[in-house]
Amino acid sequence: MTKSVPHGGTLINRWDADFSYSHIQTEVELDAIALSDLELIGIGGYSPLTGFLEEADYQSVVENMKLENGLPWSIPITLPVTEEKANTLSTGDEIRLVYQGDVYGVLTVNSIFSPDKSKEAQYVYQTTDAAHPGVKKVYDRPDYYVGGPITLIKRTPKGRFTQYYKDPVETRNYFTKQGWENIVGFQTRNPVHRAHEYIQKTALEIVDGLFLNPLVGETKSDDIPADVRMESYEVILENYYPKDRVFLSAFPAAMRYAGPREAVFHALVRKNFGCTHFIVGRDHAGVGDYYGTYDAQKIFSNFTEEELGIKTLFFEHSFYCKKCDGMASNKTCPHDKEHHMILSGTKVREKLQRGEKLPSEFSRPEVVETLIKGMKQDTVQTGGKE
Ligand code: ADX
Repeated sequence: MTKSVPHGGTLINRWDADFSYSHIQTEVELDAIALSDLELIGIGGYSPLTGFLEEADYQSVVENMKLENGLPWSIPITLPVTEEKANTLSTGDEIRLVYQGDVYGVLTVNSIFSPDKSKEAQYVYQTTDAAHPGVKKVYDRPDYYVGGPITLIKRTPKGRFTQYYKDPVETRNYFTKQGWENIVGFQTRNPVHRAHEYIQKTALEIVDGLFLNPLVGETKSDDIPADVRMESYEVILENYYPKDRVFLSAFPAAMRYAGPREAVFHALVRKNFGCTHFIVGRDHAGVGDYYGTYDAQKIFSNFTEEELGIKTLFFEHSFYCKKCDGMASNKTCPHDKEHHMILSGTKVREKLQRGEKLPSEFSRPEVVETLIKGMKQDTVQTGGKE
């Protein structure tokens, strides 16, 4: 049985498909981020959260990376509404949470507040620069936040890869059934490249199973689309991983690009899904030059392992070294940089978009093929629009 205890001690379940909401008239429209957050709260992915953050918890998370009760929590999970809407709400109200005409949940209003968004940006993202995609989102979303407990009523449509969406209760059961005690979680918003594979397999040498948990919620428009990536994960697992030691499951959250703060959040959420270990490599959840290469590792020194309840496995920047003739990092390779195969994410995307192959030292050929094919189809389907 997995040794991992949910954050706060109890796996939250606020999903009730039969919940009657006909007596509730007030509606709040969700955006894609709030919709994915609602679902993750409902299924316990965000345990101990039972709803969108109320003001005191929000302030505490922003300033101290902790909920008011002292539990670590590093990303504010908020429900933004317009000032106009906020003026119509009072504490104690129940509201319907609506996305594109469908009711996905209800919330009891405990708190309505006007956040200091520059402060949120500075504390959580370490910058107030609106060119940062996560900060831009914070600024673009409406200006008031509503907090309170939710009930999740309707599950979101999952599309082509439904079988890979598993709730924490299901992933935990799976791990137990497999007899896995130690499970390492891996977050990514990219296809699995050789460096990812290297650090995952290094971790697999010491744990029982790998929980490959790619983020498939909202990402910035130049990241590779989730459905294209999902196919590439199937292909790499089929060809290069032992079937009985890896579990692939989609993580429906939105990407915040908050670097260090998001690494802590990613680790805590994977604990809720049953992981005992979590991989943090170089520039985890980073974007541009906003964070130092190992800032997302350093931030964990603010917490004890006991309060986090999940062990972090830190990895150095890894690469294929032509002289070593294998994967390595500066911890293991004595050779100069010129022998290292390193490609930036931007370069990789440009090449794939042009239908160009990537070197097999960087990415498995089957993965490259799948990505090139998938991105062509994606361009046809969307007419090249993002
Ligand atoms: S993200 O969600 O963290 O933005 P990304 O695909 O860039 O996704 O990285 C996934 C995980 O692999 C992160 O923990 C990241 O630090 C790690 N990682 C990515 N590339 C490397 C690399 N070349 N060497 C070591 N760790 C890496």
